[in-house]
Amino acid sequence: MDFEQELQKKTEMVEHIIKEYMPREAAFQKTVLEAMEYTMSAGGKRIRPVLMMSSYELSGGRDKLIEPFMAAIEMIHTYSLIHDDLPALDNDDYRRGRKTAHIVYGEAMAILAGDSLLNYAYETAVKAFALLESKYAASGAGLSDRGAEELRNELSERKHVEQALAILAAKPGIYGMIGGQVADVELTGSVLNEEQLTFIYENKTGALIEASMLIGGILAGADESAIEKLQKVAYNIGMAFQIQDDILDETATFEELGKPIHSDEKNEKVTYVTLHGIDASKKEAERLSKEAVSLLNSFGPDAEFLTELTEYLIHRKN
Ligand code: IPE
Ligand code: IPE
Ligand code: MG
Ligand code: MG
Ligand code: MG
Repeated sequence: MDFEQELQKKTEMVEHIIKEYMPREAAFQKTVLEAMEYTMSAGGKRIRPVLMMSSYELSGGRDKLIEPFMAAIEMIHTYSLIHDDLPALDNDDYRRGRKTAHIVYGEAMAILAGDSLLNYAYETAVKAFALLESKYAASGAGLSDRGAEELRNELSERKHVEQALAILAAKPGIYGMIGGQVADVELTGSVLNEEQLTFIYENKTGALIEASMLIGGILAGADESAIEKLQKVAYNIGMAFQIQDDILDETATFEELGKPIHSDEKNEKVTYVTLHGIDASKKEAERLSKEAVSLLNSFGPDAEFLTELTEYLIHRKN
């Protein structure tokens, strides 16, 4: 497998799916749709939907049921970025190589565009139920003619969609991403201990990455032990991902990142890098990533793409 080529192929599929699910029609809400589209279409690595699709495939998933969830997680992630950049939070002027939404559309519209992406994510994800309905309607006659097995399959797939929705609701919330952002904001300027730093990383970044991989596994019907393993893998990828983000804030260029460098320093954020230095941070990202890879190896050769992606993410340049 040529990893780079496979990643490009998967990213293109994600782009296509996002386009399909973004809202189009607008009356007087036209400006907010523009602001949503502006930040969504600026690119971004699309790592969360790629991770979701890859865990789905690794767990044997093969149909379109995953697609609305892939679009939804990227909408939620993009909302978190729009709000993270606001003057009241990190106050950053660039994102994904463009001026941030609040610079272009004003603060009020950026807040609303973030809210809209969050809400539209759920409007999008519930479309999975319609996909299920048409799948089973197309496969058979009326309810009374259905075999017991087909009914069982439909019920079990519905249950998976319900479980996936519960995760999509919980992980971005107060016991997930928002919880991490709250601690990140509130503890800015103070010297963090390991417990506080870990809480922030697990939640502000880890939670959406966990949601992505868990939803992939759940929709594919993975068993409990596989789900548990996916969760551990995602945890490690998430922690390593944020450490690498902190490293890049210090070492990359603006052109590479498409967002301001030294944003953490400007905001007096204590990060893994400020606490431990660049070298120890790289080592910790390696350690977390190796642990994820060894867990992934237990899935066998089908996990090749995910193992390569895990390694790629801690060496990424943006
Ligand atoms: C940035 O996420 C915010 C963090 C959690 C570090 P990404 O690095 O995935 O940003 P995009 O989507 O590629 O722009
Ligand atoms: C972001 O952390 C976490 C989010 C929930 C958006 P950062 O504040 O470090 O992300 P960047 O560096 O602005 O992308
Ligand atoms: Mg931030
Ligand atoms: Mg930020
Ligand atoms: Mg950062």
